[in-house]
Amino acid sequence: MKICCIGAGYVGGPTMAVIAHKCPHIKVTAVDIDAERIAAWNSDNLPIFEPGLKEIVEQVRGKNLFYSTDVDSGIREADIIFVSVPTPTKTYGIGNGRAADLKYVERCARHIAKAAQSDKIIVEKSTVPVRTADVIKRILDESDTSVNFQVLSNPEFLAEGTGIHDLENPDRVLIGGEETEAGQKAVQTVASIYAQWIPRDKILTTNLWSSELSKLVANAFLAQRISSINSISALCEATGADVGEVAMAIGKDSRIGPKFLQSSVGFGGSCFQKDILNLVYLCEAFGLSEVAEYWLKVVSMNDYQKSRFSRCIVNKLFNTVSDKRIAIFGFAFKKDTNDTRESPGIYVCRDLLEEQANLAIYDPKVPSEQILSDLNGNLDSDGKYGDASIEIAEDAYAAAEGAHAIAVLTEWDEFSGLDYERIYLSMRKPSFIFDGRNLLDLAKLRQIGFDVYGIGKSLPAL
Ligand code: UDX
Ligand code: ADP
Repeated sequence: MKICCIGAGYVGGPTMAVIAHKCPHIKVTAVDIDAERIAAWNSDNLPIFEPGLKEIVEQVRGKNLFYSTDVDSGIREADIIFVSVPTPTKTYGIGNGRAADLKYVERCARHIAKAAQSDKIIVEKSTVPVRTADVIKRILDESDTSVNFQVLSNPEFLAEGTGIHDLENPDRVLIGGEETEAGQKAVQTVASIYAQWIPRDKILTTNLWSSELSKLVANAFLAQRISSINSISALCEATGADVGEVAMAIGKDSRIGPKFLQSSVGFGGSCFQKDILNLVYLCEAFGLSEVAEYWLKVVSMNDYQKSRFSRCIVNKLFNTVSDKRIAIFGFAFKKDTNDTRESPGIYVCRDLLEEQANLAIYDPKVPSEQILSDLNGNLDSDGKYGDASIEIAEDAYAAAEGAHAIAVLTEWDEFSGLDYERIYLSMRKPSFIFDGRNLLDLAKLRQIGFDVYGIGKSLPAL
Protein backbone atom coordinates (compact mmCIF):
# COMPACT_ATOMS: atom_id res chain seq x y z
CA MET A 1 0.00 0.00 0.00
CA LYS A 2 1.20 3.51 -0.78
CA ILE A 3 0.13 6.66 1.00
CA CYS A 4 0.65 10.24 -0.05
CA CYS A 5 -0.02 13.30 2.07
CA ILE A 6 -0.51 16.64 0.36
CA GLY A 7 0.79 19.30 2.76
CA ALA A 8 3.81 18.62 4.98
CA GLY A 9 3.00 21.04 7.80
CA TYR A 10 2.33 20.79 11.52
CA VAL A 11 -0.33 18.13 10.94
CA GLY A 12 0.78 16.28 7.79
CA GLY A 13 4.48 16.12 8.74
CA PRO A 14 4.21 14.40 12.14
CA THR A 15 1.19 12.28 11.15
CA MET A 16 2.98 10.76 8.17
CA ALA A 17 6.14 10.19 10.23
CA VAL A 18 4.17 8.19 12.80
CA ILE A 19 2.26 6.17 10.16
CA ALA A 20 5.55 5.32 8.42
CA HIS A 21 7.14 4.38 11.74
CA LYS A 22 4.26 2.14 12.78
CA CYS A 23 3.69 0.58 9.35
CA PRO A 24 7.05 -0.39 7.81
CA HIS A 25 5.24 -2.17 4.96
CA ILE A 26 3.60 1.05 3.75
CA LYS A 27 5.44 3.58 1.59
CA VAL A 28 4.55 7.05 2.82
CA THR A 29 5.32 10.20 0.83
CA ALA A 30 4.60 13.70 2.09
CA VAL A 31 4.50 16.23 -0.72
CA ASP A 32 4.38 20.00 -0.51
CA ILE A 33 4.60 22.91 -2.95
CA ASP A 34 6.90 24.71 -0.51
CA ALA A 35 10.36 23.58 -1.67
CA GLU A 36 12.10 25.16 1.33
CA ARG A 37 9.89 23.20 3.70
CA ILE A 38 10.57 19.93 1.88
CA ALA A 39 14.32 20.63 1.90
CA ALA A 40 14.09 21.17 5.65
CA TRP A 41 12.21 17.87 6.13
CA ASN A 42 15.06 16.19 4.23
CA SER A 43 17.72 17.87 6.40
CA ASP A 44 18.84 17.70 10.04
CA ASN A 45 16.96 20.88 10.71
CA LEU A 46 13.28 19.89 10.51
CA PRO A 47 10.85 22.74 9.72
CA ILE A 48 8.82 22.16 12.85
CA PHE A 49 9.80 21.49 16.43
CA GLU A 50 7.82 18.73 18.08
CA PRO A 51 9.28 16.60 20.90
CA GLY A 52 10.17 13.09 19.64
CA LEU A 53 9.58 13.92 15.97
CA LYS A 54 13.20 14.16 14.87
CA GLU A 55 14.05 10.75 16.33
CA ILE A 56 11.20 9.10 14.41
CA VAL A 57 11.93 10.89 11.14
CA GLU A 58 15.58 9.86 11.36
CA GLN A 59 14.59 6.21 11.78
CA VAL A 60 12.27 5.99 8.76
CA ARG A 61 13.26 8.74 6.33
CA GLY A 62 14.65 7.22 3.13
CA LYS A 63 13.28 3.78 4.11
CA ASN A 64 9.51 4.08 3.86
CA LEU A 65 9.07 7.81 4.51
CA PHE A 66 9.82 10.34 1.78
CA TYR A 67 9.42 14.09 1.50
CA SER A 68 9.08 15.51 -1.99
CA THR A 69 7.94 18.50 -4.04
CA ASP A 70 6.77 16.18 -6.83
CA VAL A 71 3.05 16.38 -6.09
CA ASP A 72 2.05 14.74 -9.39
CA SER A 73 4.06 11.58 -8.77
CA GLY A 74 2.92 11.46 -5.16
CA ILE A 75 -0.71 11.51 -6.30
CA ARG A 76 -0.18 9.03 -9.13
CA GLU A 77 1.61 6.44 -7.00
CA ALA A 78 -0.70 6.52 -3.99
CA ASP A 79 -3.67 4.34 -3.10
CA ILE A 80 -4.65 6.70 -0.30
CA ILE A 81 -4.16 10.48 -0.37
CA PHE A 82 -4.39 12.51 2.82
CA VAL A 83 -5.19 16.19 2.27
CA SER A 84 -3.51 18.25 4.95
CA VAL A 85 -3.38 21.81 3.68
CA PRO A 86 -4.36 25.02 5.49
CA THR A 87 -8.01 26.03 5.88
CA PRO A 88 -7.54 29.52 7.38
CA THR A 89 -10.32 31.93 8.22
CA LYS A 90 -11.32 33.92 5.14
CA THR A 91 -9.99 37.46 5.04
CA TYR A 92 -12.05 38.67 2.09
CA GLY A 93 -15.46 38.55 0.47
CA ILE A 94 -18.41 36.49 1.66
CA GLY A 95 -17.81 35.05 5.10
CA ASN A 96 -14.86 37.41 5.72
CA GLY A 97 -13.52 36.83 9.24
CA ARG A 98 -15.69 33.76 9.84
CA ALA A 99 -15.83 31.14 7.10
CA ALA A 100 -12.97 28.75 6.36
CA ASP A 101 -11.09 29.55 3.17
CA LEU A 102 -11.29 26.39 1.10
CA LYS A 103 -9.15 27.54 -1.80
CA TYR A 104 -6.20 25.30 -0.84
CA VAL A 105 -8.43 22.26 -0.42
CA GLU A 106 -10.11 22.93 -3.75
CA ARG A 107 -6.73 23.35 -5.47
CA CYS A 108 -5.68 19.97 -4.10
CA ALA A 109 -8.88 18.34 -5.34
CA ARG A 110 -8.31 19.75 -8.82
CA HIS A 111 -4.69 18.63 -8.73
CA ILE A 112 -5.72 15.10 -7.75
CA ALA A 113 -8.40 15.03 -10.46
CA LYS A 114 -5.80 16.00 -13.06
CA ALA A 115 -2.96 13.74 -11.98
CA ALA A 116 -4.73 10.55 -10.83
CA GLN A 117 -4.69 7.56 -13.18
CA SER A 118 -6.04 4.88 -10.83
CA ASP A 119 -8.70 4.59 -8.10
CA LYS A 120 -7.93 6.52 -4.90
CA ILE A 121 -9.21 7.04 -1.40
CA ILE A 122 -9.04 10.74 -0.53
CA VAL A 123 -8.87 11.51 3.18
CA GLU A 124 -9.65 14.97 4.56
CA LYS A 125 -7.22 15.61 7.42
CA SER A 126 -7.49 19.38 7.37
CA THR A 127 -10.31 20.77 9.50
CA VAL A 128 -13.07 21.68 7.10
CA PRO A 129 -16.65 22.97 7.22
CA VAL A 130 -19.34 20.31 7.26
CA ARG A 131 -20.09 18.98 3.75
CA THR A 132 -16.67 19.84 2.31
CA ALA A 133 -16.36 16.19 1.28
CA ASP A 134 -19.21 16.95 -1.13
CA VAL A 135 -17.22 19.76 -2.73
CA ILE A 136 -14.16 17.54 -3.12
CA LYS A 137 -16.23 14.72 -4.56
CA ARG A 138 -17.98 17.01 -7.06
CA ILE A 139 -14.65 18.26 -8.38
CA LEU A 140 -13.16 14.77 -8.56
CA ASP A 141 -16.22 13.29 -10.23
CA GLU A 142 -16.25 16.03 -12.87
CA SER A 143 -12.76 15.04 -14.04
CA ASP A 144 -12.82 13.27 -17.36
CA THR A 145 -11.09 10.12 -16.19
CA SER A 146 -12.62 6.77 -15.42
CA VAL A 147 -10.94 6.81 -12.02
CA ASN A 148 -13.11 6.18 -8.94
CA PHE A 149 -12.65 8.29 -5.84
CA GLN A 150 -13.88 7.68 -2.31
CA VAL A 151 -13.75 10.72 -0.04
CA LEU A 152 -13.38 10.16 3.71
CA SER A 153 -13.07 12.44 6.71
CA ASN A 154 -10.40 11.58 9.26
CA PRO A 155 -9.86 14.67 11.42
CA GLU A 156 -6.64 15.09 13.34
CA PHE A 157 -6.90 15.58 17.10
CA LEU A 158 -3.20 15.90 17.91
CA ALA A 159 -2.17 18.88 20.01
CA GLU A 160 1.13 20.54 19.18
CA GLY A 161 3.87 19.96 21.71
CA THR A 162 2.48 16.50 22.51
CA GLY A 163 1.80 15.57 18.88
CA ILE A 164 3.86 12.39 18.75
CA HIS A 165 2.41 11.06 21.98
CA ASP A 166 -1.11 11.96 20.78
CA LEU A 167 -0.56 10.19 17.45
CA GLU A 168 0.87 7.09 19.11
CA ASN A 169 -1.75 6.93 21.89
CA PRO A 170 -4.84 8.77 20.68
CA ASP A 171 -8.03 8.89 22.77
CA ARG A 172 -9.78 7.95 19.53
CA VAL A 173 -9.40 7.94 15.77
CA LEU A 174 -12.42 9.10 13.85
CA ILE A 175 -13.16 8.02 10.28
CA GLY A 176 -16.26 9.15 8.44
CA GLY A 177 -17.34 7.80 5.09
CA GLU A 178 -20.26 7.41 2.76
CA GLU A 179 -22.82 4.85 3.82
CA THR A 180 -22.43 2.93 0.55
CA GLU A 181 -20.64 -0.40 0.20
CA ALA A 182 -17.67 1.30 -1.50
CA GLY A 183 -17.63 4.04 1.15
CA GLN A 184 -17.58 1.52 3.99
CA LYS A 185 -14.84 -0.50 2.28
CA ALA A 186 -12.69 2.64 2.06
CA VAL A 187 -13.36 3.37 5.75
CA GLN A 188 -12.17 -0.14 6.65
CA THR A 189 -9.02 0.27 4.52
CA VAL A 190 -8.02 3.43 6.38
CA ALA A 191 -9.05 1.89 9.73
CA SER A 192 -6.74 -1.05 9.03
CA ILE A 193 -3.75 1.33 8.88
CA TYR A 194 -4.47 2.79 12.32
CA ALA A 195 -5.23 -0.70 13.66
CA GLN A 196 -1.52 -1.49 13.27
CA TRP A 197 -0.94 0.30 16.58
CA ILE A 198 -4.29 1.50 17.95
CA PRO A 199 -6.85 -0.80 19.64
CA ARG A 200 -9.89 -1.34 17.41
CA ASP A 201 -12.32 -0.02 20.03
CA LYS A 202 -10.65 3.38 19.78
CA ILE A 203 -11.21 3.58 16.02
CA LEU A 204 -14.64 5.13 15.60
CA THR A 205 -16.49 5.15 12.32
CA THR A 206 -19.35 7.54 11.54
CA ASN A 207 -21.00 9.13 8.56
CA LEU A 208 -19.05 11.85 6.76
CA TRP A 209 -20.91 14.82 8.19
CA SER A 210 -20.70 13.65 11.81
CA SER A 211 -16.96 13.22 11.43
CA GLU A 212 -16.44 16.65 9.88
CA LEU A 213 -18.63 18.33 12.51
CA SER A 214 -17.08 16.43 15.44
CA LYS A 215 -13.69 18.04 14.83
CA LEU A 216 -15.18 21.53 14.98
CA VAL A 217 -17.21 20.66 18.06
CA ALA A 218 -14.30 19.03 19.91
CA ASN A 219 -12.20 22.16 19.46
CA ALA A 220 -15.11 24.43 20.35
CA PHE A 221 -15.72 22.51 23.61
CA LEU A 222 -12.02 22.60 24.55
CA ALA A 223 -11.76 26.32 23.84
CA GLN A 224 -14.99 26.91 25.73
CA ARG A 225 -13.47 25.40 28.88
CA ILE A 226 -10.51 27.77 28.65
CA SER A 227 -12.74 30.79 28.09
CA SER A 228 -14.93 29.68 30.98
CA ILE A 229 -12.05 29.46 33.44
CA ASN A 230 -10.55 32.68 32.05
CA SER A 231 -13.83 34.50 32.65
CA ILE A 232 -13.67 33.29 36.25
CA SER A 233 -10.05 34.49 36.55
CA ALA A 234 -11.27 38.08 36.24
CA LEU A 235 -13.79 37.44 39.00
CA CYS A 236 -11.10 35.84 41.17
CA GLU A 237 -8.91 38.91 40.88
CA ALA A 238 -11.85 41.07 41.94
CA THR A 239 -12.95 38.92 44.87
CA GLY A 240 -9.83 37.44 46.45
CA ALA A 241 -10.41 33.89 45.20
CA ASP A 242 -7.56 32.04 43.49
CA VAL A 243 -8.36 30.65 40.04
CA GLY A 244 -5.95 27.71 40.51
CA GLU A 245 -7.79 26.69 43.68
CA VAL A 246 -11.18 27.11 42.02
CA ALA A 247 -10.06 25.03 39.01
CA MET A 248 -8.75 22.34 41.34
CA ALA A 249 -11.96 22.29 43.36
CA ILE A 250 -14.30 22.07 40.39
CA GLY A 251 -12.02 19.69 38.47
CA LYS A 252 -12.37 17.07 41.23
CA ASP A 253 -15.97 16.65 40.17
CA SER A 254 -15.66 13.71 37.81
CA ARG A 255 -18.38 15.20 35.62
CA ILE A 256 -16.21 18.27 35.05
CA GLY A 257 -12.71 16.72 35.21
CA PRO A 258 -9.39 18.51 35.75
CA LYS A 259 -8.09 19.00 32.19
CA PHE A 260 -8.13 22.23 30.19
CA LEU A 261 -8.86 24.38 33.21
CA GLN A 262 -5.52 26.17 33.25
CA SER A 263 -6.30 29.86 33.23
CA SER A 264 -3.96 31.82 30.97
CA VAL A 265 -3.39 34.96 28.97
CA GLY A 266 -5.66 33.33 26.39
CA PHE A 267 -5.69 30.42 23.99
CA GLY A 268 -3.86 30.55 20.69
CA GLY A 269 -2.93 28.09 17.97
CA SER A 270 -4.11 27.57 14.45
CA CYS A 271 -7.29 25.70 15.39
CA PHE A 272 -9.42 26.99 18.23
CA GLN A 273 -10.40 30.44 17.00
CA LYS A 274 -10.59 29.37 13.37
CA ASP A 275 -12.78 26.38 14.10
CA ILE A 276 -15.17 28.28 16.34
CA LEU A 277 -15.55 31.02 13.74
CA ASN A 278 -16.18 28.31 11.19
CA LEU A 279 -18.85 26.80 13.46
CA VAL A 280 -20.40 30.22 13.96
CA TYR A 281 -20.50 30.78 10.21
CA LEU A 282 -22.16 27.43 9.68
CA CYS A 283 -24.81 28.19 12.30
CA GLU A 284 -25.48 31.59 10.75
CA ALA A 285 -25.75 30.02 7.30
CA PHE A 286 -28.45 27.70 8.66
CA GLY A 287 -30.29 30.59 10.37
CA LEU A 288 -29.29 29.44 13.88
CA SER A 289 -28.34 32.89 15.13
CA GLU A 290 -28.72 32.07 18.86
CA VAL A 291 -26.37 29.11 18.51
CA ALA A 292 -23.90 31.26 16.57
CA GLU A 293 -23.96 33.98 19.22
CA TYR A 294 -23.41 31.43 21.98
CA TRP A 295 -20.19 30.09 20.44
CA LEU A 296 -18.94 33.51 19.36
CA LYS A 297 -18.75 34.46 23.05
CA VAL A 298 -15.95 31.89 23.50
CA VAL A 299 -13.82 33.90 21.05
CA SER A 300 -14.77 37.31 22.45
CA MET A 301 -13.93 36.14 25.98
CA ASN A 302 -10.51 35.09 24.69
CA ASP A 303 -9.98 38.51 23.10
CA TYR A 304 -11.01 40.11 26.38
CA GLN A 305 -8.49 38.00 28.30
CA LYS A 306 -5.59 38.97 26.02
CA SER A 307 -6.37 42.68 26.14
CA ARG A 308 -7.09 42.53 29.89
CA PHE A 309 -3.55 41.24 30.37
CA SER A 310 -1.95 44.04 28.30
CA ARG A 311 -4.08 46.65 30.04
CA CYS A 312 -3.01 45.29 33.41
CA ILE A 313 0.67 45.70 32.47
CA VAL A 314 0.15 49.31 31.41
CA ASN A 315 -1.99 50.02 34.43
CA LYS A 316 0.43 48.58 37.00
CA LEU A 317 3.39 50.35 35.38
CA PHE A 318 1.86 53.67 36.46
CA ASN A 319 -0.35 53.93 33.37
CA THR A 320 2.48 54.29 30.91
CA VAL A 321 4.91 51.88 29.29
CA SER A 322 6.16 54.47 26.82
CA ASP A 323 9.93 54.12 26.42
CA LYS A 324 10.01 51.39 29.08
CA ARG A 325 11.79 48.11 28.42
CA ILE A 326 9.56 45.09 28.84
CA ALA A 327 11.01 41.59 28.67
CA ILE A 328 8.73 39.10 26.94
CA PHE A 329 9.34 35.51 28.05
CA GLY A 330 7.95 33.20 25.35
CA PHE A 331 6.27 33.92 22.04
CA ALA A 332 5.01 30.47 20.88
CA PHE A 333 1.30 29.86 21.46
CA LYS A 334 2.17 27.13 23.98
CA LYS A 335 5.31 25.38 25.19
CA ASP A 336 7.19 22.71 23.21
CA THR A 337 6.34 24.12 19.79
CA ASN A 338 7.84 26.78 17.53
CA ASP A 339 4.37 27.61 16.19
CA THR A 340 3.17 31.19 16.73
CA ARG A 341 -0.12 31.07 14.86
CA GLU A 342 -2.72 33.11 16.79
CA SER A 343 -0.32 33.21 19.73
CA PRO A 344 -1.56 35.50 22.52
CA GLY A 345 2.02 36.82 22.47
CA ILE A 346 1.34 38.52 19.14
CA TYR A 347 -1.65 40.40 20.54
CA VAL A 348 -0.05 41.37 23.85
CA CYS A 349 3.14 42.54 22.13
CA ARG A 350 1.16 44.59 19.61
CA ASP A 351 -0.80 46.26 22.42
CA LEU A 352 2.42 47.13 24.24
CA LEU A 353 4.06 48.42 21.06
CA GLU A 354 1.02 50.63 20.48
CA GLU A 355 1.71 52.01 23.96
CA GLN A 356 5.29 52.74 22.77
CA ALA A 357 7.04 50.13 24.90
CA ASN A 358 10.45 48.78 23.95
CA LEU A 359 10.16 45.00 23.87
CA ALA A 360 12.97 42.51 24.45
CA ILE A 361 11.53 39.18 23.32
CA TYR A 362 12.98 35.77 24.06
CA ASP A 363 11.59 32.40 23.00
CA PRO A 364 13.65 29.20 23.13
CA LYS A 365 12.33 27.81 19.82
CA VAL A 366 10.70 30.51 17.71
CA PRO A 367 13.17 31.94 15.17
CA SER A 368 13.66 35.71 15.33
CA GLU A 369 12.48 36.17 11.71
CA GLN A 370 9.16 34.58 12.69
CA ILE A 371 8.69 36.94 15.66
CA LEU A 372 9.52 39.97 13.53
CA SER A 373 7.24 38.88 10.74
CA ASP A 374 4.37 38.31 13.21
CA LEU A 375 4.82 41.84 14.56
CA ASN A 376 5.71 43.50 11.31
CA GLY A 377 2.62 45.78 11.26
CA ASN A 378 4.34 49.17 11.43
CA LEU A 379 7.91 47.97 11.73
CA ASP A 380 10.37 50.40 10.13
CA SER A 381 13.45 49.25 8.27
CA ASP A 382 15.58 49.91 11.37
CA GLY A 383 13.45 47.61 13.52
CA LYS A 384 11.56 50.50 15.12
CA TYR A 385 7.82 50.33 15.61
CA GLY A 386 6.94 54.00 15.58
CA ASP A 387 8.28 55.25 18.88
CA ALA A 388 8.64 51.71 20.20
CA SER A 389 11.19 49.04 19.37
CA ILE A 390 11.64 45.29 19.26
CA GLU A 391 14.79 43.47 20.26
CA ILE A 392 15.13 39.70 20.00
CA ALA A 393 17.12 38.56 23.01
CA GLU A 394 19.52 35.64 23.14
CA ASP A 395 18.19 34.34 26.43
CA ALA A 396 15.84 35.26 29.25
CA TYR A 397 18.58 36.98 31.27
CA ALA A 398 19.54 39.24 28.36
CA ALA A 399 15.87 40.11 27.78
CA ALA A 400 15.36 41.06 31.42
CA GLU A 401 18.51 43.15 31.79
CA GLY A 402 17.55 46.78 32.38
CA ALA A 403 13.83 45.97 31.98
CA HIS A 404 11.05 47.56 34.01
CA ALA A 405 8.92 44.45 33.74
CA ILE A 406 8.78 40.83 32.60
CA ALA A 407 5.70 39.34 30.95
CA VAL A 408 5.58 35.52 30.80
CA LEU A 409 3.51 34.63 27.75
CA THR A 410 4.46 30.98 27.12
CA GLU A 411 4.81 28.32 29.80
CA TRP A 412 8.26 27.03 28.72
CA ASP A 413 9.70 24.87 31.52
CA GLU A 414 12.98 26.80 31.52
CA PHE A 415 11.24 29.94 32.79
CA SER A 416 10.43 28.35 36.13
CA GLY A 417 14.07 27.33 36.69
CA LEU A 418 15.67 30.75 36.12
CA ASP A 419 17.73 32.55 38.75
CA TYR A 420 15.24 35.30 39.58
CA GLU A 421 17.51 36.89 42.21
CA ARG A 422 20.05 37.50 39.45
CA ILE A 423 17.30 38.77 37.17
CA TYR A 424 15.96 41.10 39.88
CA LEU A 425 19.39 42.65 40.39
CA SER A 426 19.72 43.36 36.67
CA MET A 427 16.31 45.08 36.31
CA ARG A 428 15.05 48.64 36.84
CA LYS A 429 13.21 49.28 40.10
CA PRO A 430 10.44 48.75 40.92
CA SER A 431 10.68 45.45 39.01
CA PHE A 432 7.43 43.86 37.87
CA ILE A 433 6.57 40.32 36.77
CA PHE A 434 3.30 39.56 34.98
CA ASP A 435 2.83 35.82 34.81
CA GLY A 436 0.40 35.12 31.97
CA ARG A 437 0.65 31.36 32.50
CA ASN A 438 0.62 31.02 36.29
CA LEU A 439 3.93 29.22 35.97
CA LEU A 440 6.04 30.98 38.58
CA ASP A 441 6.13 30.87 42.36
CA LEU A 442 4.77 34.36 42.93
CA ALA A 443 5.26 34.28 46.72
CA LYS A 444 8.97 33.59 46.26
CA LEU A 445 9.31 36.31 43.65
CA ARG A 446 7.65 38.74 46.02
CA GLN A 447 10.15 37.84 48.70
CA ILE A 448 12.95 38.69 46.28
CA GLY A 449 11.39 42.12 45.83
CA PHE A 450 9.36 41.84 42.62
CA ASP A 451 5.93 43.36 42.19
CA VAL A 452 4.01 40.35 40.92
CA TYR A 453 0.78 39.73 39.02
CA GLY A 454 -0.70 36.34 38.16
CA ILE A 455 -3.83 35.57 36.15
CA GLY A 456 -6.76 35.06 38.53
CA LYS A 457 -4.65 35.70 41.62
CA SER A 458 -5.37 38.46 44.04
CA LEU A 459 -2.38 38.54 46.31
CA PRO A 460 -2.70 39.40 49.99
CA ALA A 461 -1.03 42.63 51.13
CA LEU A 462 2.56 42.15 52.28
C1 UDX B 1 -5.88 21.85 19.66
C2 UDX B 1 -6.62 20.59 20.14
O1 UDX B 1 -6.25 20.31 21.50
C3 UDX B 1 -6.31 19.41 19.23
O2 UDX B 1 -7.07 18.28 19.62
C4 UDX B 1 -6.63 19.80 17.79
O3 UDX B 1 -6.28 18.74 16.92
C5 UDX B 1 -5.90 21.05 17.38
O4 UDX B 1 -6.20 22.12 18.30
P1 UDX B 1 -3.39 22.75 19.89
O5 UDX B 1 -3.99 24.05 19.45
O6 UDX B 1 -2.19 22.24 19.18
O7 UDX B 1 -4.48 21.59 19.79
O8 UDX B 1 -2.99 22.85 21.45
P2 UDX B 1 -3.84 22.84 22.82
O9 UDX B 1 -3.06 22.05 23.81
O10 UDX B 1 -5.23 22.46 22.61
O11 UDX B 1 -3.75 24.37 23.28
C6 UDX B 1 -4.42 25.41 22.59
C7 UDX B 1 -4.26 26.72 23.36
O12 UDX B 1 -4.99 26.70 24.58
C8 UDX B 1 -2.82 27.04 23.73
O13 UDX B 1 -2.58 28.42 23.54
C9 UDX B 1 -2.75 26.69 25.20
O14 UDX B 1 -1.75 27.40 25.89
C10 UDX B 1 -4.15 27.10 25.65
N1 UDX B 1 -4.59 26.39 26.86
C11 UDX B 1 -4.75 25.03 26.87
C12 UDX B 1 -4.91 27.13 28.01
O15 UDX B 1 -4.80 28.37 28.02
N2 UDX B 1 -5.37 26.46 29.11
C13 UDX B 1 -5.55 25.11 29.15
O16 UDX B 1 -5.98 24.59 30.21
C14 UDX B 1 -5.22 24.37 27.99
P1 ADP C 1 -1.35 22.52 9.34
O1 ADP C 1 -1.18 23.04 10.74
O2 ADP C 1 -2.80 22.33 8.98
O3 ADP C 1 -0.54 21.30 9.07
P2 ADP C 1 0.57 24.12 7.81
O4 ADP C 1 0.44 25.51 7.29
O5 ADP C 1 1.60 23.83 8.84
O6 ADP C 1 -0.90 23.71 8.33
O7 ADP C 1 0.83 23.10 6.59
C1 ADP C 1 0.13 23.06 5.42
C2 ADP C 1 1.09 22.79 4.26
O8 ADP C 1 0.32 22.59 3.07
C3 ADP C 1 2.06 23.94 3.94
O9 ADP C 1 3.39 23.47 4.05
C4 ADP C 1 1.72 24.35 2.49
O10 ADP C 1 2.86 24.69 1.73
C5 ADP C 1 1.07 23.07 1.96
N1 ADP C 1 0.19 23.26 0.79
C6 ADP C 1 -0.79 24.17 0.64
N2 ADP C 1 -1.40 24.00 -0.55
C7 ADP C 1 -0.81 22.96 -1.17
C8 ADP C 1 -1.00 22.29 -2.43
N3 ADP C 1 -1.96 22.68 -3.27
N4 ADP C 1 -0.19 21.25 -2.73
C9 ADP C 1 0.77 20.86 -1.86
N5 ADP C 1 0.98 21.43 -0.66
C10 ADP C 1 0.22 22.47 -0.30
